[in-house]
Amino acid sequence: MTAINAVTDLTLDGDIAVITLNSPPVNALSAAVRQGLFEGFKAAIADPAAKAIVLICEGRTFIAGADITEFGSAMADPQLADVQDMMESSTKPVVAAIHGTVLGGGLEVALCAHYRVAVPSAKFGLPEVNLGLLPGAGGTQRLPRVVGPERALEMMTSGRHVPAKEALSGGLTDELVEEGKLKEGAIAFARKVAAENRPLTKIRDQNAKVEAARGKPEIFADFRKANARKFRGFLAPEYNIQCIEAAVNLPFDEGMKVERKLFNELMAGSQSAAQRYTFFAERQAQKIPGIADDTPLIPIKKVGVIGAGTMGGGIAMNFANAGIPVVIVEQKQEPLDKGLGIIRKNYERTASRGGITAAQVEERCALITGSLSMEESFADVDLVIEAVFERMDIKKDIFAKLDAICKPGAILATNTSGLNIDEIASVTKRPESVIGLHFFSPANVMKLLEIVRADHTSDSVIATSMKLAKQIGKTAVLVGVCPGFVGNRILGQRQREAQKLVMEGAMPWDIDRVLYDFGFPMGPFAMSDLAGLDIGWVKEKSNGESIRDVLCEADRRGQKTGAGYYDYDENRNAKPSPFTEKVINDFIVKSGANPRKISDEEILERCIFPMINEGVKILEEKKAIRSSDIDVVWQNGYGWPVYRGGPMWYGDQVGPDKVLAKMQDFQAKMGDAFKPSPLLEKLVADGKKFSDL
Ligand code: 3HC
Repeated sequence: MTAINAVTDLTLDGDIAVITLNSPPVNALSAAVRQGLFEGFKAAIADPAAKAIVLICEGRTFIAGADITEFGSAMADPQLADVQDMMESSTKPVVAAIHGTVLGGGLEVALCAHYRVAVPSAKFGLPEVNLGLLPGAGGTQRLPRVVGPERALEMMTSGRHVPAKEALSGGLTDELVEEGKLKEGAIAFARKVAAENRPLTKIRDQNAKVEAARGKPEIFADFRKANARKFRGFLAPEYNIQCIEAAVNLPFDEGMKVERKLFNELMAGSQSAAQRYTFFAERQAQKIPGIADDTPLIPIKKVGVIGAGTMGGGIAMNFANAGIPVVIVEQKQEPLDKGLGIIRKNYERTASRGGITAAQVEERCALITGSLSMEESFADVDLVIEAVFERMDIKKDIFAKLDAICKPGAILATNTSGLNIDEIASVTKRPESVIGLHFFSPANVMKLLEIVRADHTSDSVIATSMKLAKQIGKTAVLVGVCPGFVGNRILGQRQREAQKLVMEGAMPWDIDRVLYDFGFPMGPFAMSDLAGLDIGWVKEKSNGESIRDVLCEADRRGQKTGAGYYDYDENRNAKPSPFTEKVINDFIVKSGANPRKISDEEILERCIFPMINEGVKILEEKKAIRSSDIDVVWQNGYGWPVYRGGPMWYGDQVGPDKVLAKMQDFQAKMGDAFKPSPLLEKLVADGKKFSDL
């Protein structure tokens, strides 16, 4: 064995050279890895005893991409392209032996091998788009040559991880070898191709699939049209598409020039900076200071859910999806049956769209059982999540019962969206087992999970909840107990200003448009119409004193009644409503105010800056661990546009001093709702950024 450098070895297995990379955690293409590959291939090619070369990785994965931490500074030599040239022009067959996830630059390296073999659990992808980028090492030109432009469009604009079986049928890998026997399999494969003297074809020279798409611009036009909504606001999907167009219409080397130009543009832009920040922010959120890595975890083998409504049902589905049995308890048979029926329908709908198989529908439904008795069903659960009506007395009653029923050590969780969890925990004799698991509706779809740490919640319960969140595919953020926790507390600021702006002369559609253009999927008034204006509205108590009262009394309760803030046609297309406009104007007249023309800039700043200020207050009160956690909450739970990073990241782009100055200006004109947090003032005085918090 020869050590090429600290992360690369070269060995000879008979007449096959094996280059082994070992650069934890994910064998990313750091300078050391590039150098190891370059020198390793050089030595293997020069070694007369070697007939073919296998590239394999140690650890959990093949190369998972470029080293994202190196972005933004000049890359040390050798460049990745030097490594790729060396591989592609090798006079001996090069075989990439793939396990784990072969992603981004990792796949681009593998596409420069003459052959690829993989284990069945391997996954292939070009996920650069999720970092606001495009594959910048020839992937945009090679992938369409392997899988065809249509498949390349889908893979590169979604970043999807393609399973090995699909990779085999699409030509991305040449052979699958037995799980756990990658090295032997790859060496045997290399020996075979060397013995057969197969010609060493390069992907760059394989033009059949791209030529077949030449002169068919509709492939791209149709794809753009079909995905316009999904790609709105993002630069990277469009740039990826343009690279594939170049692959189809230009010779390889010309296509590479287009790739380089567009890659550099994206890399220098603000969107990719925000998306790369997001990548690390989400990983950072998993790290809880003070909780040791070896904190004992509580095995979660069975889960209980209280409440078979939309929330309870959605929560239960998450666990069934991960193969964990769930029992849902309701008070009466009818709502229980209804809830279980809705769960089945949801699964069937997913199956009808090809998301899961019919057998999976049955498996998952079989994992979810119903019961009318907590006593009978909860004695053996490891975790119970309460998802009933938001009333403290009801929650306390339930937790007192759970304390009596559940086994010692079981986690007792509430899905409250804002009630005081310490108060809920106080009725139990085991507050250390009580935690908030705040799912967002629809709970089987939304990625965010706010994990709420109460005063006495134990480290084990927190660590177990964080791990479980990952297992069920959620993005978890640990927050502290305060009204609304992190997400809804910040939302409250925006909602208040949106309502106030309406009373000053901005129409709901003006405010919605500004926020939509900013990148939110919809504005607050369109959102209210979608959710239903009558959520929390009580007809008997309605006295026409708010705009909502008047709209609900007129049976304008949102999309479901064909009208709300907006008028809707039969296809639920929204139009500004003269009725709503009149209601608003009547209220303004009654209040004695003079409506004024409000600029888009003011709408945006009034809605967003108080959110940033509230974020700082949350950090001041230590209800969130770090500013990036707030951004993770807002991206994953409230539709904050990913390419704008999150409210705190955005605040840094605007400049903390400008945010402070505006808040002071608003405070002088409109009162203490805009009072800057003392920490914001200090931040600016110290010349720091929100991301320093
Ligand atoms: N560069 C640097 N660090 C990386 C990295 C990368 N490409 N990929 C992962 N890491 C780090 C993570 O930050 C994390 O560090 P931490 O432990 O200090 O928090 C650690 O590796 C483990 O990552 P995960 O927690 O995400 O581990 P998982 O096992 O859950 O997931 C993974 C592994 C699927 C490989 C996932 O990490 C991932 O998706 N990585 C990014 C892949 C990617 O985007 N590749 C393309 C990069 S851009 C590129 O290649 C440009 C090229 O075209 C020129």
